[in-house]
Amino acid sequence: MCGIIGIVGKKEVAPMLIDGLKRLEYRGYDSAGIATLVNGGIERRRAEGKITNLETLVAGSPIGGTMGIGHTRWATHGLPNEINAHPHANDRCVLVHNGIIENFQELRQELAAKGHRFETETDTEAVVHLVSDFLSQGMTPQEAVAASLKRLEGAFALAILFTGAEGLMISARRGSPLAIGYGDGEMFVGSDALALAPLTRRICYLEEGDWAEITADGAIVHDEAGAIVERAIRQTATSGAMIGKGNFPHFMLKEIYEQPAVIGDTLHTLLNPWNKVVTLQGLPFDLTRIPRVTIIACGTSFHAGMVAKYWLEQIARVPVDLDIASEFRYRAIDMQPGGLSIFISQSGETADTLAAQRYAKAQGQHIMVVVNVAESSMAREADAVLLTHAGPEIGVASTKAFTTQLTVLACLAIDMASKRGAIDAARAAELCSALTEVPSRCNEVLVHDEAIAELAREIMDAHDVLYLGRGTGYPIALEGALKLKEISYIHAEGYAAGEMKHGPIALIDEYVPVIVIAPSDNLFDKTASNMQEVIARGGRVIFLSDAAGIKKLGNMAAATIELPTVDPFVAPILYTIPVQLLSYHTAVLKGTDVDQPRNLAKSVTVE
Ligand code: G6P
Repeated sequence: MCGIIGIVGKKEVAPMLIDGLKRLEYRGYDSAGIATLVNGGIERRRAEGKITNLETLVAGSPIGGTMGIGHTRWATHGLPNEINAHPHANDRCVLVHNGIIENFQELRQELAAKGHRFETETDTEAVVHLVSDFLSQGMTPQEAVAASLKRLEGAFALAILFTGAEGLMISARRGSPLAIGYGDGEMFVGSDALALAPLTRRICYLEEGDWAEITADGAIVHDEAGAIVERAIRQTATSGAMIGKGNFPHFMLKEIYEQPAVIGDTLHTLLNPWNKVVTLQGLPFDLTRIPRVTIIACGTSFHAGMVAKYWLEQIARVPVDLDIASEFRYRAIDMQPGGLSIFISQSGETADTLAAQRYAKAQGQHIMVVVNVAESSMAREADAVLLTHAGPEIGVASTKAFTTQLTVLACLAIDMASKRGAIDAARAAELCSALTEVPSRCNEVLVHDEAIAELAREIMDAHDVLYLGRGTGYPIALEGALKLKEISYIHAEGYAAGEMKHGPIALIDEYVPVIVIAPSDNLFDKTASNMQEVIARGGRVIFLSDAAGIKKLGNMAAATIELPTVDPFVAPILYTIPVQLLSYHTAVLKGTDVDQPRNLAKSVTVE
């Protein structure tokens, strides 16, 4: 989703802005631009497509200046072309925006009637003219921004420069994230700490409704009412060194291979391998008194929530409601007081999930978040934060964030089950043992990488691919299908194996590969029957199972991948890896942009 960078500095700023935009690339975008102030006047360069296009443009037509703003745009209003690319400007100010101005039509009409001339199809341009309208009434930039913010509806993060006001940048945030970075005689703003990582690690996150006057010497932060407020400056854990690709051709492959290590890191924070006890420290509520759990998330994180629903219901014996955030937030549900609501998000910034979190908070729920970014909005507003220690995830298709989410949620299930007396100490120790083995079992799965790359040749020409699973294998089927869609653009569906005969079985012929996820668990025989139904109709099955499963049924499948024999509790974590690799290799064979697939954004900060 749109990315913002702003610098009030002491050096030539254009190359620094472009570097910053490259660090924001992972969020997903379709055009990019920068603007600087030179002798009080605006210089601007924008280009459709990748940042390399912008770089070429700037190389041919350089711009100077020691302060500037930059933007990667993920189109919402108006085509992803140069004219709609940010920064947007008129003769009084220039700005970049992340989010959606919901009342832009009304503002446009009002300002057009006053003689403002609009050039783009964007919602953002309304802000340019609104601010400049107030400036033309004799207001200072600070007054003009404060007045404009009162008129804006929707979500936004903004960074604004003003002609004739050398040295001043104003930033504001409502709904969309924005961080201020403190340098040495230089100041920065960015959509996230990653954008600022090599520039500074001293970060201040604006609160909802805040706006800030930023100069090279520091920032004055105002709250929504205009009062000057102190916001803590923290040392972010994110460093520039963490965001390289190493020797891997793509971030996604690197992140798949990091899974044994980051699952281990995450486990270390929650589980003591010596006495085999999970310790979720310092929860501000009592897990034994929770009448009901609600889990809300989007995309891949939702699939992690779905696995957790099975775990919490089966192991901790607590009823769980599960929904995607964009639906949940408008269901107007009356939530049971004292319930626990769990929000799962890699970024901790997904607009729908954050809005759902605020709704649940207002309904008197205990709020727990499972996030990968400790400083994210969701983490800052939660009662309890369970961190995944996946490190920065740059590939748009989520991989290591998902398996570390599962790791955290598995620990939560064990802890809750133990505290509620749903399992005894011996069973808890067994489950903990199974979890502590996951990192090394993951390495055993990664050994199949080459074989999976071969299998991808059979998938790459398919028009449709079906993924089937039961129990916790069902969300993994959904996740496998999502991964394939996201990066190879092949239509894929994940289905509960037992539900297949209610529809998707009509799709089956020799051209539709069917990936069957079937660990030897209590549902194996049922899944096996569904697989036979596919084979009887000429379907080509790729069978993911363990030694026992493959011994029973492997000879019926077109291909098999043998996964380690594990406690079925941890199977969903391990069975994720082959479906990640299959989509990765299929995408590589198809030549798609694996790390930045078309139309997708890493962090979706609009509804
Ligand atoms: C986007 C990303 C997905 C991600 C989803 C939820 O769609 O492309 O990979 O699963 O958002 O993001 P979150 O940060 O809340 O986990």
